[in-house]
Amino acid sequence: MDAAIPSRYAATYAAWQADPGGFWAEAAKAIDWVTPPKTVFDPSQGAYGRWFPDGVCNTCYNAVDRHAASHPDRVALIYDSPVTGAKKTFTYAQLKAEVATFAAVMADLGVTKGDRVIVYMPMVPEAAIAMLACARIGAIHSVVFGGFAAKELATRIDDCHPKLIVSASCGIEGAKVIPYKPLLDGAIDLAVAKPEHCIILQRPQVDAQFTPDRDFDWEALVTRARLQGKQAPCVPVAATDPLYVLYTSGTTGKPKGVVRDNGGHMVALAWSMGNLYGIKPGEVFWAASDVGWVVGHSYIVYAPLIAGATTILYEGKPVGTPDPGAYWRVISEHGVSALFTAPTAFRAIKKEDPNADHLKRYDLSGFRTLFLAGERADPDTVVWAEKILGVPVVDHWWQTETGWCIVGNPVGLGLLPVKPGSPTVPMPGYDVRIVDEAGHDVPANTMGSIVIKLPLPPGSLPTLWQQDDRFKESYLEAFPGCYSTSDAGFIDDDGYLYIMGRTDDIINVAGHRLSTGGMEEVLSSHPDVAECAVIGMADSLKGEVPCGFVVLKMGVNKTPAVVEKELVQLVRDKIGPVAAFKLAIAVQRLPKTRSGKILRGTMKKIADGTEWSMPATIDDPSVLAEIEEALKGRSG
Ligand code: COA
Ligand code: AMP
Repeated sequence: MDAAIPSRYAATYAAWQADPGGFWAEAAKAIDWVTPPKTVFDPSQGAYGRWFPDGVCNTCYNAVDRHAASHPDRVALIYDSPVTGAKKTFTYAQLKAEVATFAAVMADLGVTKGDRVIVYMPMVPEAAIAMLACARIGAIHSVVFGGFAAKELATRIDDCHPKLIVSASCGIEGAKVIPYKPLLDGAIDLAVAKPEHCIILQRPQVDAQFTPDRDFDWEALVTRARLQGKQAPCVPVAATDPLYVLYTSGTTGKPKGVVRDNGGHMVALAWSMGNLYGIKPGEVFWAASDVGWVVGHSYIVYAPLIAGATTILYEGKPVGTPDPGAYWRVISEHGVSALFTAPTAFRAIKKEDPNADHLKRYDLSGFRTLFLAGERADPDTVVWAEKILGVPVVDHWWQTETGWCIVGNPVGLGLLPVKPGSPTVPMPGYDVRIVDEAGHDVPANTMGSIVIKLPLPPGSLPTLWQQDDRFKESYLEAFPGCYSTSDAGFIDDDGYLYIMGRTDDIINVAGHRLSTGGMEEVLSSHPDVAECAVIGMADSLKGEVPCGFVVLKMGVNKTPAVVEKELVQLVRDKIGPVAAFKLAIAVQRLPKTRSGKILRGTMKKIADGTEWSMPATIDDPSVLAEIEEALKGRSG
């Protein structure tokens, strides 16, 4: 990118501000509609209005069929799996055949428009095929990340009542093979809302046991449908119909079912591929995430395909599969133009290969940009990545709720100067403000709550799955007229935003969003625990890791070490390994204010080894010394 070329960002953002309806109407032309929308935005519908309310469309058609028609031999999806040695390429025509066949299989099992389908799968092409097949027939998919335990899966089953669950016999995490079927069976046992059927992809590493009449083999069903020549057509849906529900951590153990619509989602993603990521049709875009997260939904599956680009589905890690050169291998082998990952992946690579010696083995001359998101991009990591790669490193900030970037550096419009530590400037559609507790704008460089003036742009959530009231309470009530992001930060004199942390109990562990409140619920359920607090503790690799403090009940006749071990296992069993909960510390008391509020903020500062001062409201100052003492020599 030539820094001398002025960015078109300011003019583009101003054009949106001057005429939001006109701006999104123009962007909507990138989509093939069954019935083009006459109305761009209707403020009278939904909680804050709805986008393209009279448009009719199909997301699978836009992601697959239209490209299969105009450039069938272009590669749509590359599956690269260093953990199994498999590599497979699907052209748009081949992807269409796979998706249409699997859509017919689901339709044969009675799945129709509006039905929910849970996809609980590892990073295999069948996961993307299942998602697209749902979109094809108007079914609503809900992908559940493989690192969650049976109970978390059960909670999601009970919330969205799937007719069908699509899963696999196992996932492969680095060197570990993780059987999925026992987790799935456990979840269905726990759930009240039982699915009618399950389709299981048998992988060679593990042979899953089937429940007769309920479970079917993916390969057998697909082979039969192929022989019968069955292919399901794209079903027209309203632009406002849900495409998917994706659960994300809320402030309690009960996750929030973020709803994504069809029309606005496509428009926003199509706009972002060219203008934010600078990707043209036919170029290779790689989001090294997981289909279980929003990044996987938006930028492994939907956006690159809607844009007619080539996407990579990578079943591996940044390190250990087999070495810290894994990312460079994939970039050079598949001609990747832009990579999108979480900073934690780069911290992992830097830790194992600080001089980037592995990079020397590969030709990255076609690689243009690194995008980071999902957690704070620490300036050290940004600067290191920039130095070794010699390309712009673009931090950008967004949330599961928004579905695409809120604040970023629009490479496609011309890169703005990078300030390490800042994700740069708001994208069109987002009027980002920093406000004080009363909701008043604060001056530049002043910390406050980050809010987005309503309406949210296309692509952002219209509501939570069947919980309109929870949606309003969680996001719209704290600052009337605005969406509350639950992030805090400031905007500098140049209009650059800085994200300083969450204002709620969400923590970010290796780019994974987790609720400490949910972990506290699990610890409290242990019979020996009287009270507890979980905080996020700074970690040089994962950004943050959870740390639990527990006060044991009187008369517990186990040693604290035994209970601590049980608690670590309990969180793993109830939430899953992804919680990375490895540290529970038994203490005599928890530090509290005189009104009984646990001083989690001060505990975090002590655990992080950062400067802290005695809170004026503390009930008993000596408790903090006990916490400091208890932390000595302890780490996850
Ligand atoms: N299925 C089952 N288990 C999973 C899983 C999955 N899909 N994903 C992770 N886990 C398990 C891991 O095996 C690990 O288990 P362990 O406690 O038995 O070791 C645990 O969950 C924690 O996983 P993670 O936090 O990812 O730690 P890690 O040590 O395995 O890997 C990184 C650390 C940095 C290499 C890894 O997090 C990574 O590649 N991050 C890249 C960025 C990313 O994916 N971000 C997502 C949002 S964009
Ligand atoms: P998720 O919904 O999993 O994408 O997590 C969203 C949260 O991750 C945000 O609310 C932020 O707290 C954090 N986050 C995401 N991207 C960034 C970023 N670029 N910088 C700082 N924090 C980020």
